[in-house]
Amino acid sequence: MVAAAGPGLSADADARALAAVEHTLARRARGDIGFFDLPEQGDALEDVERVLAGIAADIDTMVVFGIGGSSLGPRALVSALTPPWSWLAPADGRRRRVLFCDNIDPVTVAGLFATIDVRRCVFNVVTKSGATAETCAQLLLLLERLGAVVGERVAQHLIITTDPSRGALRALASAHHLPSLRVPANVGGRFSVLSPVGLLPAGFAGVDLRALLRGAAAMRERVLRNHADNPALFFARHMHHQHMVAGRPMLVMMAYVDGLYDTADWFRQLWAESLGKALATDGRAIHVGPTPIAARGATDQHSQLQLYAEGPDDKAYCMLTVDDRGADLTMPAHPWAAAHDELAYLQGRGLGELLDAELRGTMASLRRRGRPVGIVRLAGQDAASVGELIMLLEAATAFAGPLYGVDPFDQPGVEEAKRLAFAALGRPGFSDGAVGVDVATILTSDPAHVR
Ligand code: PA5
Repeated sequence: MVAAAGPGLSADADARALAAVEHTLARRARGDIGFFDLPEQGDALEDVERVLAGIAADIDTMVVFGIGGSSLGPRALVSALTPPWSWLAPADGRRRRVLFCDNIDPVTVAGLFATIDVRRCVFNVVTKSGATAETCAQLLLLLERLGAVVGERVAQHLIITTDPSRGALRALASAHHLPSLRVPANVGGRFSVLSPVGLLPAGFAGVDLRALLRGAAAMRERVLRNHADNPALFFARHMHHQHMVAGRPMLVMMAYVDGLYDTADWFRQLWAESLGKALATDGRAIHVGPTPIAARGATDQHSQLQLYAEGPDDKAYCMLTVDDRGADLTMPAHPWAAAHDELAYLQGRGLGELLDAELRGTMASLRRRGRPVGIVRLAGQDAASVGELIMLLEAATAFAGPLYGVDPFDQPGVEEAKRLAFAALGRPGFSDGAVGVDVATILTSDPAHVR
């Protein structure tokens, strides 16, 4: 994998950047942060393989219930490493598919249950805390549905992924002898992709988990060096520089590989939730944070590029691509095309070749206007390369935290919103008065429209 980005940085940034690595290494050494060590969790991989082996042969669909890091990371793996459109294929036992249901819109959830055949599904309920209201609500609906359809055989259709010892779901899994997997206590949701959170759905879909972890371990060796040739540090310091020095607070991650769009979407969470903070680590109020944006090439060239190229110069750009797309479709010669220049020049060229040309065109157009553009190139769209990419982006986020002066591993704003939602539902022990804030007058002049 090669990472390259915008203009050079002044030498006086070096000390701060290297201190960011030292700080992160010290936290790892204290056992505060566990994501660097996930590639070596042999027992976790064995647990996942044991649980996968226990899934009946006639089950062809895994439905993942979870939200935030408990959905975005596994979805990134499955999208990157399984054939596109397979989730649309009829569940006929020939190919296993993974569906992700992260939201709680009742129409979406009812639609899911109306569409799937529960007897041919295994459900993976994922919540590190074991307390997230959205996931707990989905679990309740699921338990009712399983009770009605599979009766006593719930344990054959339900797998819990949660904290090793804490939370309601751990207790429930023990009490009812459900297959369960552990998210290490020092690995938070958005950093849990390479834990059983991501490994189980990816393994179900047929991803080579050992290659995935091998790729991640290889990248880890590169990013843990307190050294100038450190791609994660390079990424972190350039993006931090673009924001805090060059005045570009937004980072567009634009995937020129459809399978990597969900990686950009997971990164959107990783970068935002890790770096958007009210307080610095020394307690000062700073309200800092970059705004990540996920985009898809070539699609968003026809949607967002006009803004990117000619709008305010407030964004940095990171393109994602692969050197080897694995397959190409050659555009055929056709008698109808010969007379039309708009069609003729495409004949005999590859669709991937065209997509690469679009990428080059977009980068050139942005660079021509002085917009900072970097590119992350994977060798291929394979498990090892994706493992490298996940580790690269996690490490970059870890290093960016100290550069911004914040703790990238907490999420107090998310936790507060969870508590306010508990209070709004009258959950005992949660009665934060702020939940009564009236937003109706902001949203509409007619409060009758707002319940
Ligand atoms: O990254 C995080 O910590 C969050 O986005 C969580 O993943 C999200 O809030 C869901 O939490 P949990 O896995 O505890 O249900």
